[in-house]
Amino acid sequence: MSGTGGEQARKTAEGLAYLSGFGNEHSSEAIPGALPTGRNSPQRAPLGLYAEQLSGSAFTEPRHHNRRSWLYRIRPSAAHPRFSRIDNGAVRSGPFEETVPDPNRLRWNPLPEPDAPTDFVEGLWTLGGNGDVTQRTGMAVHLYAANRSMTDRVFSDADGELLIVPERGGLLLRTELGMLSVEPGRIALIPRGVRFRVELLDAAGEGEPAARGYVCENYGQPFTLPDLGPIGANGLANARDFLAPTAAYEDTEGPVEVINKFCGNLWSATYDHSPLDVVAWHGNHLPYVYDLRRFNVMGTISYDHPDPSIFTVLTSPSDTPGLAGVDFVVFAPRWLVGEDTFRPPYFHRNVMSEYMGLIEGAYDAKAEGFVPGGGSLHNMMSAHGPDRETFDKASAAELKPQKIDDGLAFMFETRWPVTATGQALSAGHLQQGYDDVWQGLQRNFRP
Ligand SMILES: [Fe+2]
Repeated sequence: MSGTGGEQARKTAEGLAYLSGFGNEHSSEAIPGALPTGRNSPQRAPLGLYAEQLSGSAFTEPRHHNRRSWLYRIRPSAAHPRFSRIDNGAVRSGPFEETVPDPNRLRWNPLPEPDAPTDFVEGLWTLGGNGDVTQRTGMAVHLYAANRSMTDRVFSDADGELLIVPERGGLLLRTELGMLSVEPGRIALIPRGVRFRVELLDAAGEGEPAARGYVCENYGQPFTLPDLGPIGANGLANARDFLAPTAAYEDTEGPVEVINKFCGNLWSATYDHSPLDVVAWHGNHLPYVYDLRRFNVMGTISYDHPDPSIFTVLTSPSDTPGLAGVDFVVFAPRWLVGEDTFRPPYFHRNVMSEYMGLIEGAYDAKAEGFVPGGGSLHNMMSAHGPDRETFDKASAAELKPQKIDDGLAFMFETRWPVTATGQALSAGHLQQGYDDVWQGLQRNFRP
């Protein structure tokens, strides 16, 4: 079907201004003078606005973990009617108990094209996850396929922050703090509790959804930039390349459906105004967009493929140093120059669990079957690595400097096994015979 991907949305997206830096204290006002100076909650906020704090951390967390934003809005968020349960659609949450954790290696083709008008929220489809939303531990892997913009409704997630990884089609994200434009090759991060609406920038193609991609819902500690250790003060994802929005508000009356994901269920309330009515704000609990092609890739300049943690863009730390609830890792264009080295990522069994997706092109350890929009799941201690064709080719390759520039793959790597949902294990797009890619790896032993 033809989508509602809009020229108007694209025009808006192209004109956006951003604030640069990750984790910064920013401030922004859509109308000069809307932001109070010298205090957060004056007796009467400027322009007749209401002052409201949005806390993304406990008040008392250490300063480097503390996240909150002050919002100056037309109506306080508290002015809303009662929420009622609605159907969860294809959204599932931790604890994941529909199936048992599966040690098998699993791989999926892309989500099928929706056969009815479907917006971002309606198009969310949960593959699996771990942890427990009520304990704020763990994560979920979702995919989405949409062919129309959200209209007269907004979404927010009390259960976690949302890392959105588009694979096809651009999105205009209208959030309480302003607008973000995100296209394939970029990611967006929506903090816990922030309301937003998703509009499509592109129309659907023949037999293809207008927008498709992946979402990591992180129930745990917010994503942050990884420590760099001996790498030094720069490198990997540089903080300045994360872009926060500038304030932009809607002053509209009339019914707006607000969908709230809360402790695993979707709840809905119909407001008589748009809740995207924040005229000014300051703080550090903010959405971001980041261009993965800005990632400063580090790799060997001598021998051996480094552990893929070197490709970490964002990490959600746990209480154990170095042990992430979930890492977001990107396999971006890079040079391979290792001498006497098997250059693709090595054969591996991992205490961590790995969900991999592909944004475009091909991944250098899988010759075929791993396609853009699809994904693979290699759970804790499941053996994985290059397929036979890749192994044969890489073992015989002449080791000239080689540029890998036709692929953009990523990984959600988590400390707990990912339990698939029932719909993921019964899906028509679950590949049969994935194990076969490792068949025929020859016995080469010559004692
Ligand atoms: Fe691995």
